[in-house]
Amino acid sequence: MTDPIRPGRRPAYGFFGGSFDPVQAGHIALARAALKECGLKRVYLVPAGCSPFKEEGPRASGRDRIRLIRAAIRGVPGLCVAKWELGRAGPSFTYQTLRSLHRRFPHRRWELVMGQDAWASFTRWRRWRELAKRCPLVVGRRPGTAGRGGPSAFFLRSKLPLVSSTRVREALAQGKSVRRWVPSAVALEMKRRGLYPRLPTGLSARRTRHSAAVAHWAMELARRYGADPARAERAGLYHDLAKEWRPDRLSAYAKINRLRVPGVSDVMVSKNPSLLHGVVSAHVARQRGWVKDRQTFNAMARHTTGHGRMGRLDKIIFVADYSSPDRPWAESVRVRRAALKNLERAFRLTVYYKSEEVLQRGGTLPRHSVRLLKRWGMN
Ligand SMILES: [Fe+2]
Ligand SMILES: [Fe+2]
Repeated sequence: MTDPIRPGRRPAYGFFGGSFDPVQAGHIALARAALKECGLKRVYLVPAGCSPFKEEGPRASGRDRIRLIRAAIRGVPGLCVAKWELGRAGPSFTYQTLRSLHRRFPHRRWELVMGQDAWASFTRWRRWRELAKRCPLVVGRRPGTAGRGGPSAFFLRSKLPLVSSTRVREALAQGKSVRRWVPSAVALEMKRRGLYPRLPTGLSARRTRHSAAVAHWAMELARRYGADPARAERAGLYHDLAKEWRPDRLSAYAKINRLRVPGVSDVMVSKNPSLLHGVVSAHVARQRGWVKDRQTFNAMARHTTGHGRMGRLDKIIFVADYSSPDRPWAESVRVRRAALKNLERAFRLTVYYKSEEVLQRGGTLPRHSVRLLKRWGMN
């Protein structure tokens, strides 16, 4: 459809949007094919802040997805990465970005580069007619996908590898190698930055589900309240690693490794060894190399009983564990709602409800909980 640029014609650039969560070999092959077959001057890979087609936000932060794309395109002439959609609040709509690009670069023509699946759903895009009128569509074939029925487009001839970011994430969650699906520089960078961590092993299906739910909810809260989503995810995934251990195993492990429950007396712990599961989980995760930093360790260690001085990540994990979507109880639902608006209020409610449960069971509250409840007038 598009010939190589002829003198006198405005140069054409490729716009390739998506979550890139993470960027994989199929993306790079598609961008390179578009560059070559359409004679584009450059192809921009444009990670979306929040895709309007996905209920859940991207797993990796915008900054990390940019880093991975940079690693993937290093040394590939003609491919660039752009942050155009990352700073914007709310969902990323391509028509808005393209409108602003037309204003910013009036001398450029833009062609929309996409995979066959995106093309098949193109008529569901916001203002797709405007987009299709302004920008020719360049589509990479995906053999075996059900993608049909989009508007007229130029189909690339190049054969593209059949990979998806979802498949890459699933493999990583199971601890499998993804080297054949992502450029090796990307695999290395993901490992170095601890992105897309593996799911905990050795837990029951129910506990694994809970851990994944807490991880996801904690990431959401971290994004909302300015904490590190990657740390929140790890703390959520591994906070209950030792939850299903027998009390004697917990006590023995804590004794050998000299672990104590922060802010809780040894007498209380000896009466109820399950209070140890937070700090033991944190220790096990650190021993396995899944958690390396002090903040994540503390957030895990403090998730059951809290602490006198809770930081932002501590509060997020404490709240996320109590109010994760797999908890159906009225109190959890109330905390969940509060957490969407105000982390501090959700934290106070969690301390209050948890303390109430302890007292109803005839237990004793940690000193720091008594102090906090008094300070808040909730005792
Ligand atoms: Fe727990
Ligand atoms: Fe938990």
